[in-house]
Amino acid sequence: MIRNMNSYPLYDDGSHKVYWLGIEESEDEKGILTNQYLVIDGNEGALIEPGGFFVFSRVLKNVSSLIPPTQIKYLMYSHQDPDVVAGLNLWFEYAPLAKVVISELWVRFIPHLAVMSAGRTVGIPDRGAEFKLGNSTIRAVPAHYLHSPGNFAFYDEKSGILFSSDIGAAAFSKDEWYLFVEDFDEHTKHMEGFHKRYMSSTKALKAWVRSVRKLKPKMIAPQHGAIFRDEDVGRFLDWLDSLEVGIDAFEEEFYGD
Ligand SMILES: [Fe+2]
Ligand SMILES: [Fe+2]
Repeated sequence: MIRNMNSYPLYDDGSHKVYWLGIEESEDEKGILTNQYLVIDGNEGALIEPGGFFVFSRVLKNVSSLIPPTQIKYLMYSHQDPDVVAGLNLWFEYAPLAKVVISELWVRFIPHLAVMSAGRTVGIPDRGAEFKLGNSTIRAVPAHYLHSPGNFAFYDEKSGILFSSDIGAAAFSKDEWYLFVEDFDEHTKHMEGFHKRYMSSTKALKAWVRSVRKLKPKMIAPQHGAIFRDEDVGRFLDWLDSLEVGIDAFEEEFYGD
């Protein structure tokens, strides 16, 4: 299966643009496949889930073809996992004006990745926050315990795209990959195990689904796996609402009946 793709536009109204940032063959030999996204409004950019060390050159190349990295205003991190933050040191150098946006729970941990982060990190309070990008707004939507205790999804109001962090993640087998969900029922097979083990709490999941339904997103774009659009957005939210995950499902899983 060919898994070589450069960036792909998810939204474009002339002044506001959203891109998925590509994939290169052999990335899955190094670790779980990850998605990175770029939002551009006017001459400002926000990089969503910039990613780990080995995807950096691919992401930088694809970002640079769309906007000079010096115009990146935000590096937005849903949580503190290595597949999300490990390239931060490099981004600091290539995007010198960008602020790091991450849950305030993780602000004091970030200097362990990049000592120069002091003064460049913006902690998101637990209830969320809004970030101005050009004439648009990106909203940090609480997603705590899904899976990190300080976790956010990011909602781009203009495009209606919700970047959902690890929620909606799918782990593909070696011979499989697609950018958009095509057969939802088939797709759940790639998501179920991940959500049951990595998501912490059914209560947290249901609260998140409730808050996301109010947003009425047009697309849900996770950090791993495929993007949900059209009717699959609703199908996905219904599926999440029916799941039992994490501490609510662990006992049988670990210790038997
Ligand atoms: Fe994670
Ligand atoms: Fe992840």
